[in-house]
Amino acid sequence: MRSVVQGCGSYLPERVVTNEELSRTVETTDEWIQQRTGIRQRHIAAEGEFTSHLALKASQRALEHAGLTGSDLDLIVLATATPDETFPATATRVQAELGMRGGAAFDVQAVCAGFVYAVSVADSLIKNGLASTALVIGAETFSRILDWEDRGTCVLFGDGAGAIVLKGEQGTGTSADRGILANALHSDGRQHDILYVDGGPSSTRTTGFLRMEGKEVFKHAVVNMAAVVGEVLHKAGLEPKDIDWLVPHQANKRIIDGTGRKLGLPPERVVVTVDRHANTSAASIPLALDVAVKDGRIKKGDLLLMEGIGGGLAWGASLVRW
Ligand code: UT7
Repeated sequence: MRSVVQGCGSYLPERVVTNEELSRTVETTDEWIQQRTGIRQRHIAAEGEFTSHLALKASQRALEHAGLTGSDLDLIVLATATPDETFPATATRVQAELGMRGGAAFDVQAVCAGFVYAVSVADSLIKNGLASTALVIGAETFSRILDWEDRGTCVLFGDGAGAIVLKGEQGTGTSADRGILANALHSDGRQHDILYVDGGPSSTRTTGFLRMEGKEVFKHAVVNMAAVVGEVLHKAGLEPKDIDWLVPHQANKRIIDGTGRKLGLPPERVVVTVDRHANTSAASIPLALDVAVKDGRIKKGDLLLMEGIGGGLAWGASLVRW
């Protein structure tokens, strides 16, 4: 059994905030942000626009692209670190709005690795026969957990959502089959202090703000991405030269370039959206994916490598035959 991608969609809030606009409220410059991260702008959700609203719009577009409706789904896995409420799962809000009456909907929390985690969970449930048609969403409103006075973090993130639809299909069992070919997941809870939110319902009864030791996260990102990419290729019996597209988590252009170089991929085979979207955490991979599918770069049969790392630390990679 293979989980085959039927369609994808994404949504970005209307409001665009440029580096120049940020430099009017915190001590930073467009030059610093672009040089260190590659970011030029980010989208920020409007007052009253929640993670579920972004997720719903991305999901509707993904379903339309797949030629399906909410009632065709029996699973929603939504990756987010910024849910509408502490409970219930934001996925259940999306479920209700999509008119999906049966099946299961729940959230996965693995911060910037969230989409890869959610894809792995949905893929496993499909392969185990617990679901047949799944919507996998990455959706975030990180603007709500940023300390807008901390220039070391507030310039890095943005809001948005992306989604894909997976359907179980019988394959021949080779890497030529369309669908999810292999997944690899990891976490290391000892690294908590280098990227976390200093609040939560059980600890402080507040939402808290994102705190990050950027340089430390950067070092782990470079090492762990190289390792997990090798691992997932090995699992699928494939090599770097087989990859058509690297669709990485969009945190920093320098990290993305480093991973692409290690794989020996030319820059034109790496999907980069960090310049326009900034880091949208769990939403960044499906947002990048949707951009490259809709502009015609990613085509049926292409081999895609998705990878991401974030708070936890948690990281992972998925190989997909599109
Ligand atoms: O998605 C989750 C995973 N997250 C990541 O992958 C993020 C990984 N880390 C990074 O992307 C980079 O470490 C950052 C972009 C966060 C920072 O870049 P860096 O090259 O590691 O810079 P730094 O933190 O070492 O800071 C260098 C200097 C410091 O000044 P001094 O101490 O050298 O005087 C900072 O205070 O840059 C200063 N700085 C800024 N200056 C202007 C920090 N933030 C800013 C800013 N504008 N926004």
